[in-house]
Amino acid sequence: MKKQTVQFNTSSTTFYFDASFDLLEKIVSKDNAVIVTDDNVFCSSNHKKFKGWKTIVLKAGEEHKVQHTVDLILEQLIDFGCDRTSFLIGVGGGVVTDITGYAAGIFMRGIRFGFVPTSILAMVDASIGGKNGIDVGAYKNMVGLIRQPEFLLYDYSFLRSLPKAEWVNGFAEIIKHACIKDASMFKLLESHKLNDFQKDARLLNKLIQRNALLKSKVVVEDEFETGDRKLLNFGHTFGHAIENTYQLPHGHAVAVGMVMACMLSASYKNFNDTNRVVALIKRYGLPVHQSYKAAEVLEVMKADKKKVRDVISYVLLEKIGKAVVQPITIDEVGNIIKQLENN
Ligand SMILES: NC(=O)c1ccc[n+]([C@@H]2O[C@H](COP(=O)([O-])OP(=O)(O)OC[C@H]3O[C@@H](n4cnc5c(N)ncnc54)[C@H](O)[C@@H]3O)[C@@H](O)[C@H]2O)c1
Repeated sequence: MKKQTVQFNTSSTTFYFDASFDLLEKIVSKDNAVIVTDDNVFCSSNHKKFKGWKTIVLKAGEEHKVQHTVDLILEQLIDFGCDRTSFLIGVGGGVVTDITGYAAGIFMRGIRFGFVPTSILAMVDASIGGKNGIDVGAYKNMVGLIRQPEFLLYDYSFLRSLPKAEWVNGFAEIIKHACIKDASMFKLLESHKLNDFQKDARLLNKLIQRNALLKSKVVVEDEFETGDRKLLNFGHTFGHAIENTYQLPHGHAVAVGMVMACMLSASYKNFNDTNRVVALIKRYGLPVHQSYKAAEVLEVMKADKKKVRDVISYVLLEKIGKAVVQPITIDEVGNIIKQLENN
């Protein structure tokens, strides 16, 4: 087990990499804590881990990342007799961690919380950085707050029950990190396949840590997203616009969004490695194309949180490992999306 604490502006998060779930009761008092998880994570192979913990089991899936589910959690916390000293622990993928962080942020105006991420995507991305929230209709993460978890506990034994499709999903964010910040990780990924990481626990642990710390560093330097943190949105502007509209898994939407961003990068930044990015995305079993209706996608993009008046801060690549923010007007984006609509 490796313990590492990352200091944010006003709070810190302690990472326990390659740890065991049993450690949880040394970090928080079982009597005072409530676990939030979903019915896939709370499956037979993980069931024993939850013994003796007060647990709220949500229905799995992005469609449940909504206010109604938050209300159910809040009601159960009241039923459990929770108070301001209670501690909430999200054990699950990004949906569970986003929703748990949000519920913890608003219950009695904010109680303490931590996460045990159980999907690759949550381990390298969703559980890190303090963005917590829910969707409103097709609008992703429209309501929420920024508040850091006190700890992140990584127990890789959860990954035994993670479906292959979810491994693939998570690698979209790993490829994203490589594209924006880490050219040598991009090469490492080019020299391996998903199966290598599934088979080799040491290789996986190193990759998870590298990504978790990469994201943490970006967030530490820009917790409230005025600068470099925006780069983490690479692939997400178009990705979010198609994700809920066409019910795509998050990783698939981001993968297609990264290809779209590469094409924009080619025209705005003379980026000439689109083929390498496309090949890497395919190598890890992710899609590079999704048919869409430009009008529908634009409608969602117009409500993008990163849009200020008519300008979207689009994250583009100058080269692999070097991303920049390019302001592009919604009309320009609209024209390009229309041109590519029938590709
Ligand atoms: N807060 C952030 O900074 C941030 C960043 C990226 C993504 N996100 C959010 O994260 C979500 C996507 O994350 P995700 O892909 O982890 O979603 P998810 O929580 O829906 O998990 C994907 C699927 O895997 C299942 N699962 C997770 N761990 C499992 C395990 N160990 N065993 C068996 N099944 C398991 C879940 O039940 C679900 O069916 C999206 O809502 C996205 O908006 C948030």
